Amino acid sequence: MGLVKMGNVIVLGSQWGDEGKGKIVDLFSERFDLVARYQGGHNAGHTVFIGERKFVLKLIPSGILRPGKQAVIGNGLVIDPAALLAEIDALEAAGVAVTENLFISNRAHVLFPAHRMMEKMSEGRPGRVSIGTTSRGIGPCYEDKTARRGIRVADLLDRAVFRAQYDSLMEEKAVIAKALGIYENLDLEKIRAEYEAFAERIRPMACDTAWLLNQAIAGGKSVLFEGAQGTMLDIDHGTYPFVTSSNASAGGACTGTGVAPTRIDGVIGVSKAYITRVGGGPFPTEALDSGGDKIRRRGKEFGAVTGRPRRCGWFDVPLLRYTAAINGFDSIVVTKLDILDEFDQIPVCVGYKLGGKTIGTIPPTVAELAALEPVYDYRPGWRSSTFGMSHYEDLPAKARDYIAYLEQQTGVEVGCISTGPERNQTIVRSGSRFASLVG
Ligand code: GDP
Ligand code: IMO
Ligand code: MG
Repeated sequence: MGLVKMGNVIVLGSQWGDEGKGKIVDLFSERFDLVARYQGGHNAGHTVFIGERKFVLKLIPSGILRPGKQAVIGNGLVIDPAALLAEIDALEAAGVAVTENLFISNRAHVLFPAHRMMEKMSEGRPGRVSIGTTSRGIGPCYEDKTARRGIRVADLLDRAVFRAQYDSLMEEKAVIAKALGIYENLDLEKIRAEYEAFAERIRPMACDTAWLLNQAIAGGKSVLFEGAQGTMLDIDHGTYPFVTSSNASAGGACTGTGVAPTRIDGVIGVSKAYITRVGGGPFPTEALDSGGDKIRRRGKEFGAVTGRPRRCGWFDVPLLRYTAAINGFDSIVVTKLDILDEFDQIPVCVGYKLGGKTIGTIPPTVAELAALEPVYDYRPGWRSSTFGMSHYEDLPAKARDYIAYLEQQTGVEVGCISTGPERNQTIVRSGSRFASLVG
């Protein structure tokens, strides 16, 4: 296996985030030379367990935990330098070599405290439907990017350019915030000086990461692209407006790193054996009964970033078919199978009804999404522990049937199954497309 050259593979969330991408990327990054994040910011929380040690990665790709791997923060991210440097310091304190292995795009956008203040415009003002964001300022920073007034890492590194851009941007923010009654007395000069200091710590890691990645690929190296959030939180394809402000789906890997679609060899979706969502917005298969509580309790479904209880529900086949089409999944990883170990029966949504009619697609509006009635099939539970299993044949027959059922219903291969948070608690199905992509 060691001699087989890996291709370039995207690993991303197929639901509303927190599918277990961090664990999967950490595990398979061993086979790749570089790991690149392509969108989002410190709204992401990717949990990785290595033995007893727990790491929660927010901005830095999970591949950093593998000694010698190069980790890239692509141009598609929004970076809060204070959060990034705190993450670097915590990892280095835990013995992880970060600074020599981390490369930060000089075209990524920089997030400021004023972006958090601006988030109150959408989240706190009377009359606005709150999205239930992570309150990290992610949306407002992407707004500035799209409005062509954002400040990028390259701008931050040029003191004169930065000062001019910062002063002008902050002046605008103050005017808007005052008019909207959300103004906070931010000490703008103090913050500017802090950012000038951050710039000096970031400078040695900043570079043209698109060039770096393309050179590496041309030289025969392989790249694993790590998505944050999930396809249903994608700004274009998700449950708009209850989404994040970036392209979490596969296309984002190209725009968010500068690596062309012709260089991508495969796309892998990560999906829970059930489904969760944090924050507001439609969720057709949400289980508001004791079933949902049981998933939350067994799955420890509380946000890695905000600690909020995650909303829990049942596997949604039409949703997975939709995200498989958007992303072109070659294979999916089904995580947290062990959480379903103690259910007598497991509902699986196999279709939707809207106004009494069966529909085969995901409707675009919140009103329609909220009105969807899921049609459930009830699969027999296996009622025995699958926790930690690493061989497919060891799974109870009914658990294998559940996986086969998901494959048959979604039309997508389940090439990998996760049965616990640790690296070795994983099943890779031999002969699968998954195995051929990640070894
Ligand atoms: P991410 O954002 O997609 O990386 O996912 P999170 O880290 O936010 O949430 C997934 C949680 O489930 C983490 O606490 C993981 O340690 C844990 N986890 C991942 N896979 C498994 C699994 O197969 N079984 C169990 N029990 N926990 C898992
Ligand atoms: P990972 O990478 C789950 C959700 C928020 C909110 C919406 C918009 O760990 O899977 P934002 O702060 O991004 O503007 O919030 O998106 N959200 C996530 N939910 N996992 C995440 O990341 C998320 N990142 C954002 O809860 O509903
Ligand atoms: Mg998460």
